[in-house]
Amino acid sequence: MTMLNALRLILSIATLCIASQAAAADSGDTVRGHQLFSRCSGCHSVEGENKSGPFLNGVVGREAATVEGYRYSPALSNAGIIWTEEALDHYLAGPTKAVRGTRMSVSVSSE
Ligand code: HEC
Repeated sequence: MTMLNALRLILSIATLCIASQAAAADSGDTVRGHQLFSRCSGCHSVEGENKSGPFLNGVVGREAATVEGYRYSPALSNAGIIWTEEALDHYLAGPTKAVRGTRMSVSVSSE
């Protein structure tokens, strides 16, 4: 996964809620974000509900493993990560390599 893709994805996640309510505001990047996010949405919501993974709205800049009501792996809880764009890029490229023992096992491959 290239940095650019990761950034687009994450920035799109940040705007997904708004965009889905205002289709007219959909830019090309947002549409692309939706496509990318379809790989995450089975496990992650951006509307504040926990599925098999924690919700991701507001994730950029947040401390890892701090969504209330979600039971994280000890590995991610103790990782001490702040989800900067770089940290997200690193994690998404290979979660189990970035955080040994994390329960998220899918990585975002480059295309
Ligand atoms: C098969 C289910 C699954 C898929 C698909 C998945 N994740 Fe996850 N994700 C998880 C789980 C489970 C965790 C919690 C990991 C832990 O506790 O170690 C997690 C954690 C995360 C976290 C850390 C959240 C926090 O609050 O610290 C981020 C960021 C994340 N995922 C992003 C993504 C993105 C972006 C995608 C799509 C490219 C994605 N995930 C796809 C299951 C998934």
